[in-house]
Amino acid sequence: MKVVVTGASGLVGGRLVPALRAAGHQVTGTFHQRGPTAEAERPLDLCQRGAAARLLAEERPDLVVHAAAAANPTECELDPDRARAVNVDAVDALARSVRDCGARLIHLSTDLVFDGGRGPFTEEDEPAPLSVYAQTKREGERRALASGVALVLRCALVFGQSASGTRTFNEWILERARAGEPIPLFNDEYRTPIDDRTLGRIVSGCLEVDLRGTRHCGGGERLSRFEFGRRVAEVAGLSLDGLESTSRLAVEAVPARPEDVSLDSGKLAAELGLELPDVRTALSWWWKDLASHEAHASQPGGGAER
Ligand SMILES: NC(=O)c1ccc[n+]([C@@H]2O[C@H](COP(=O)([O-])OP(=O)(O)OC[C@H]3O[C@@H](n4cnc5c(N)ncnc54)[C@H](OP(=O)(O)O)[C@@H]3O)[C@@H](O)[C@H]2O)c1
Repeated sequence: MKVVVTGASGLVGGRLVPALRAAGHQVTGTFHQRGPTAEAERPLDLCQRGAAARLLAEERPDLVVHAAAAANPTECELDPDRARAVNVDAVDALARSVRDCGARLIHLSTDLVFDGGRGPFTEEDEPAPLSVYAQTKREGERRALASGVALVLRCALVFGQSASGTRTFNEWILERARAGEPIPLFNDEYRTPIDDRTLGRIVSGCLEVDLRGTRHCGGGERLSRFEFGRRVAEVAGLSLDGLESTSRLAVEAVPARPEDVSLDSGKLAAELGLELPDVRTALSWWWKDLASHEAHASQPGGGAER
């Protein structure tokens, strides 16, 4: 299939592009300010009037995976106008353009549309977003669905490998551990994190099976951030000494941090015939890839290929 991935210079889009290419699709990735890169070769500012329509008229894709967003909750709180422009208005324009060119849309949303009161949440549960980021993402879901051509994938926290090697939660933990810095992690904030490899398989699967509406897209295990840190340390053979178990209630967070936005993703897994891995299994894939990259880079001339 011919696929456009918006936000391919970002964490999620940057992992989806190689996954979809490996599955045999012809993929064009877009960037806004951080490109071009191997994954994101086309510039695109979705806030520019008509930009999405022009891109789609040129590319003529079968499907658009929309991973571009104002995705930093703190920045959204500070600049709600930009958050709305990117997460609502641009989604509206893009979804209409996708429909008008006869394609389908996979729109990425977030577990943070829930207030964290009583996970795991199913697709039947009513969202109650707490922050500007979450509110605009929720409104963006509605705009995408109104086009009639969209599948909204509500993603959980994404972990694994990032294009830069520094963006994911597990990479942050590893970096601090190697630097001998303390790693404070909340013991009372629960998620169902999903690894980049499984997310790639899910989005690939959604290219083959024409699903519409909203689906939850998390991993196979609910755990706290502290428990996640323990898994990283165990898989990477790190000392647990630097891990500090802390409470989210001990910090004044703006925007508010929901306690438990874990997702029940059983419906999507069943529709695609996929088994969702537990966190340890998925982390061991990441660790094995990283170890072989690092071994390769440490050989004479090896680093030049990275
Ligand atoms: N990361 C997670 O753990 C996670 C969890 C749940 C849901 N999600 C969802 O997954 C999606 C991707 O998140 P992410 O973490 O990959 O975010 P990210 O790393 O911040 O990437 C955001 C992407 O959007 C692009 N972008 C921003 N403004 C744009 C504009 N005006 N026009 C065109 N492109 C624009 C950025 O381009 P430049 O960088 O080139 O400027 C970048 O490629 C979002 O919808 C997010 O809600 C992510």
